[in-house]
Amino acid sequence: MHTYTKPCEVCGCREWETIIVDEKASVCSGRELVRNDPALIKVMCQDCGFVCTAQSPLDDTLDDYYARVYSSKLRSDDYDYVNFAAGKRFGEAVNDFVLQHPFPTTGRLLDIGCGKGFFEEAFLAKHPNWTVEGLDPSVRTIELAQRRAPRARFYCRKFAADDYPADSYDLVTIHTVLNRVSPEEFIRGSAQVLKDGGYLSIAIAILQEAPFELYFADHHYMYFREHLLALAGRHGLEMITPDERGSIWRYMFRKTGRGDTTYEIPAEERARIKRQVHGLVTAWETLFAEVRQLRDRGGKVAFYGAGTTMMIVLAQTDFPTEQIAGIFDDNPCKHGEEMWGCQVQAPSPVLNEAEAVVLCAGPSGARKICETLSLPEDRVRYFGMAPLSAQSTGQTASANSA
Ligand SMILES: C[S@@+](CC[C@H](N)C(=O)[O-])C[C@H]1O[C@@H](n2cnc3c(N)ncnc32)[C@H](O)[C@@H]1O
Ligand SMILES: [Zn+2]
Repeated sequence: MHTYTKPCEVCGCREWETIIVDEKASVCSGRELVRNDPALIKVMCQDCGFVCTAQSPLDDTLDDYYARVYSSKLRSDDYDYVNFAAGKRFGEAVNDFVLQHPFPTTGRLLDIGCGKGFFEEAFLAKHPNWTVEGLDPSVRTIELAQRRAPRARFYCRKFAADDYPADSYDLVTIHTVLNRVSPEEFIRGSAQVLKDGGYLSIAIAILQEAPFELYFADHHYMYFREHLLALAGRHGLEMITPDERGSIWRYMFRKTGRGDTTYEIPAEERARIKRQVHGLVTAWETLFAEVRQLRDRGGKVAFYGAGTTMMIVLAQTDFPTEQIAGIFDDNPCKHGEEMWGCQVQAPSPVLNEAEAVVLCAGPSGARKICETLSLPEDRVRYFGMAPLSAQSTGQTASANSA
């Protein structure tokens, strides 16, 4: 039990179970390694299964981190995330999700944590008559955003709802920001600035598909869909369109102006979420133990999926570079990138020759990789999934479906 005493933002409970105490290294945005001194501690609400960070090595420096450091870690000015399972760059998937919505020809948009302005650019191309505003505390991203979307208005600051007129926006967007900031404050604030009938679009890593969140040093809040329903419902927001594909899921909410959107997470769902969180922790520990065994046997191991999950596995197991047969990814954007002393490459026959292939992806990403590549079945290690042979017979016994 951790001495964390803050009330859970979702349900108000103050009892937390410590699920991870990581004294090694974890990752933060841009796949940067963070030495965990003090330890990174993640706790789970005993009532609703909401997971948050009780202590992070970045705690004292967070404001400065977003204002100056965070954006400098994001490789090139055009760097965007990748959503493998949806087969698209992450940003494109989010843009498609919002742009398919039948908005009126005029309106007012506020994008909270806008980053480099990719969304503003795409939104204005489709809706040229809207008034578009974006905000972000990062000086550098705001400069880039203003250049990318000159017709939008950008503010370089943290979000505070009182900085904006109440009841005045037709659309508020919070895309991949809620893992970092207080969801209660940001969702309440969004409801405050939205008109009745206005929309809130949230794109977010959902824990069951993005288990790497548990080892992220700068992601502090980890969700299941039910947590969002509860947080939003309390502020008059009703979920109208979920899009749950890939590791970042997308949800559209609508401010109803009525008081009937409250959502209590049913007891059986709370129990299921807590089981799933425990299952994910076990799946990580199992994967680390298996990779340590491979390391100690001294053979050459291939790693597939050059992302955050891979950084976590390599760091947690202190994997020696000389024992890496290759680091592979099917996304051409990543080829040639340096990771753990190796260059990321396209899939090749080396995958079949290595003593083992460690698949570094969330459950649906890993499933997709298994479907599209013929990997050496008996030698694949993957995150919390059943062996390939069991999958092909339709069994999916795993930590994630536990
Ligand atoms: C993962 S990026 C997402 C950028 C963009 N929305 C996108 O989807 O590409 C997270 C952004 O949240 C911003 N952020 C961090 N703390 C914030 C705060 N308190 N208020 C507003 N934005 C914040 C960061 O500076 C960063 O640009
Ligand atoms: Zn809770």
